[in-house]
Order: sequence, then C-alpha cells, then structure tokens
Amino acid sequence: MEHVVLSNGVKIPKLGFGVFQIPREKTAQAVMDAAQVGYRHFDTAQSYMNELELGIGLKESGVKREDLFVTSKIWISNYGYEKTKESVYTSLEKLHTDYLDLMLLHQPYGDWFGSYRALVDLYNEGVLRAIGVSNFYPDRITEAALFTDMVPHVNQVEVNPFNQQWVAQDNMKELGVQMEAWAPFAEGKNGLFTNPVLEQIGKKHNRSVGQVVLRWLTQRDIIVLAKSVRKERMEENLNSFDFNLDADDMAAIKSIDTNTSMFFDHRDPAMVRRFHDWIAERGI
Ligand SMILES: NC(=O)c1ccc[n+]([C@@H]2O[C@H](COP(=O)([O-])OP(=O)(O)OC[C@H]3O[C@@H](n4cnc5c(N)ncnc54)[C@H](OP(=O)(O)O)[C@@H]3O)[C@@H](O)[C@H]2O)c1
Repeated sequence: MEHVVLSNGVKIPKLGFGVFQIPREKTAQAVMDAAQVGYRHFDTAQSYMNELELGIGLKESGVKREDLFVTSKIWISNYGYEKTKESVYTSLEKLHTDYLDLMLLHQPYGDWFGSYRALVDLYNEGVLRAIGVSNFYPDRITEAALFTDMVPHVNQVEVNPFNQQWVAQDNMKELGVQMEAWAPFAEGKNGLFTNPVLEQIGKKHNRSVGQVVLRWLTQRDIIVLAKSVRKERMEENLNSFDFNLDADDMAAIKSIDTNTSMFFDHRDPAMVRRFHDWIAERGI
C-alpha cells in the first residue's frame, strides 16, 4: 500500500474502503472482509447511517486501532459550533473509538464556518488527527484555506475518468490541501466499466478497468475511496499498486474527460434546496 503524508505530517493510506450505500445489516461483514483482505483506511459519514456497524466491523476484525485510518463526515443538520462538537462525540461513540484520524465537513452549505471552528478546536485538543472538508469546489476550498484559522488537510470531491478535476487539483496543491476522490468508478455510470479507452489500457497491462482507474488516481497522488460489497472486488481493487500507467495511458485517459459531474453540481440552486429539504424529510 502506498501512502500520502498530509500537510500536518499524518500518514494516510492512498486507497480507502468507502461504506456509502452499504446497507446497515451488511456493513459489519463488508468491513470485516475488507480488513481481512488488507484495507486499513475506512471512510464513512454521519449521513450514511452506518457508523455503528463500521465500528462493530472494525472491532470484530481484530486489527489494532493504531493500525487503522478512520474518517467520518459531519452532516449539515449538525452544522454550527456546538452541534458539530456534540456530533463528533456521538460519532466517536458509535465508532467505538476515542479519536478519529480524519473528520470532514460533508457539504459546503449552512454554518460550515462555525462547524469548522469546532473541528479546529477538536484537532487542537487531539480528538481529531486531521480535519477537512468535502465537496468544496475551487472557490469554496480557497475561502476555507484563506478565511479560517487552519488550512483544511483534505478536500474529498468527486474524481473519476469522466470528471478528472485537474484544475481543482492544481488549486488544492497550491493551497496545501490533499485531494481525495469519491466515486472513482462514477458508480459505473456512463459505461465506465466497458469504456473502450479504459478497456484497451487494461488489456495492455493485463488488468481490469477498475484497477486501471484506481492506478490512474493513485499515480496522480490522489487518495481514493472505493466501495464494493464483494470480497473478490475488494481484493482486485487493493491489488492496483503493482503496475504503472505510462504517459500514453495517462494521455489517453485525459481524452475521455467530460469536465462534468456524473452526479450533480453542488452549485446548482435546485440542489442546494434539495439538501436543505432533505434535513426535514430524512430527519437528519
Ligand atoms: N463525500 C461525498 O459526498 C461522497 C459521495 C459519494 C461517495 N463518497 C465516498 O466514496 C466511496 C466510493 O464512492 P461510491 O461508492 O459512491 O462509488 P464507486 O466506488 O465509484 O462505485 C461503487 C460501485 O462500483 C462497483 N464496483 C466496485 N469495484 C468494482 C470493480 N472492481 N469492478 C466492477 N465494479 C466494481 C460496486 O459494486 P459492488 O459493491 O456490487 O461490488 C458499486 O456498485 C463511498 O463509499 C464513500 O465513502 C463520498
């Protein structure tokens, strides 16, 4: 496993196991399987509703806490200084741990400044080893880096071969913020797993499309979160570090960039409204 060192010296495995959309009843087993095949970096969020089950899976896996890197994210209904602080302790309790390796603000809406101040305080108290944000586009991450007391260590955003985020990555590099990729496979949208360019590169290296995509990201020094409930795919994804894409491969992948999200634009007013309305609808 390759690692990246964050701006504060904290070491983080380049490939993490994401538990978004894994049903609660399947999460503990998936996490135990992932730990067993070798994952040590796990990514959840308050809004995934499976922090408790992730905690159970990690405990049952028998892997020592100090060998794990665990990330969670604050949901917007918990924004504001006091609520965020309280919700961090709730997350810690659910995850059976007294510290988190990384805590992110999940979305750039609402009183995220107040929440971020809470993360900074918890970081200074040693409760959080690193802090950051998610879905902060170049304007917002620049604001977060320049108008707060601490440059976020990480910004987790959508990055995949159809939404490559080169400009966003350059901006983060300039600010000293580490990029993390969510939905590296675009959840299979736009025919990712049968894309001819990716298939061709896979054939050349005798690798699957999934492995090509993950290697493309890790070679760009982006931390990647991949999700699978199937043990053979967990293993396949983990075994993506022992080959290298060359300049031709990288250029070919660059040609399939659409510069567009495979999901939605966080700056779309209709989406902002949807996030707002979800709080009442989902009770979280
Ligand atoms: N911060 C955010 O707002 C945000 C948003 C979305 C996701 N995330 C994080 O990023 C993680 C990954 O994103 P994601 O789960 O949305 O999407 P993803 O990793 O791009 O795609 C997951 C899908 O790909 C399939 N898959 C996985 N490995 C495969 C392989 N080697 N070959 C073929 N299919 C494969 C999985 O199916 P099976 O499970 O059936 O194998 C699943 O349907 C999440 O779990 C979460 O931690 C964060």
